[in-house]
Amino acid sequence: MLDWNPALYRRYEDERTRPAIELLARVPLEAPRRVVDLGCGPGNSTELLAARFPGADIVGIDNSRAMLESARKRLPAVRFEFDDIHDWEPESAPDLIYANAALQWVPDHETLIPRLFDKLQPGGVLAIQMPDNRAEPTHRLMREVAAEAAFSAAIGDADKLRTELLSIDGYYDLLAGNAATVDVWRTAYQHPMASAAAIVEWVRGTGLKPFVDRLAPGLQQDFLAEYERRVDAAYPSRADGRRLLAFPRMFIVAGRKA
Ligand SMILES: C[S@@+](CC[C@H](N)C(=O)[O-])C[C@H]1O[C@@H](n2cnc3c(N)ncnc32)[C@H](O)[C@@H]1O
Repeated sequence: MLDWNPALYRRYEDERTRPAIELLARVPLEAPRRVVDLGCGPGNSTELLAARFPGADIVGIDNSRAMLESARKRLPAVRFEFDDIHDWEPESAPDLIYANAALQWVPDHETLIPRLFDKLQPGGVLAIQMPDNRAEPTHRLMREVAAEAAFSAAIGDADKLRTELLSIDGYYDLLAGNAATVDVWRTAYQHPMASAAAIVEWVRGTGLKPFVDRLAPGLQQDFLAEYERRVDAAYPSRADGRRLLAFPRMFIVAGRKA
């Protein structure tokens, strides 16, 4: 996949940061010493951590150079490091591992999630939020258009870049045997969007990216036009002319035994 585009990602930053705020609100820690933001992106989630835990040693981890550069500009006092979450090893055990909208890009959750949990200090917390929208029209339609003859050879298995999530009780089971507490929940946000084009722009910053990245520029335009046509039909205008984008997200907050 080509590198992320921080400017495009930040265009819907308020909406994207709301689940990060709601995840953090459920973290039952007063003053953690070491905090890690996995998949920190442009630093929007790291900024929340820095505001809530001003005394903590915070590090943001990401494998996108562009995102790290954007995060460093935003928070010059915070440490940001290039690493792949899949192989990441902390220098010393963190009190909080926080991953907002990142782990859906990392495979093998049955191994990954317990492995991250085991890296915590006793009494530490693992907090995760992931979009759970693969069954939504936005994502169903990108797979449908990608399967059309004009695009399928180039796009191939782009859909596989994003990990198929477990069920919410599956995540509970992964952690509950070892944890002091496991808090899981699922919310479907309803975002009023100005137009079908705005919905396309939103998903271009994230889920649509692996599909579009694989197409030559001319085909990208064709793909996006056809995709927007279908999005337009799937998200009808509401009473104010806006489109309501339903966006389900899954949350997991697990505490280690002290
Ligand atoms: C959707 S953004 C989330 C940014 C931010 N945490 C937020 O709350 O909005 C996902 C981030 O995860 C990063 N990412 C994806 N896969 C990764 C991996 N295997 N290792 C490290 N970072 C990864 C991407 O580079 C991107 O910056």
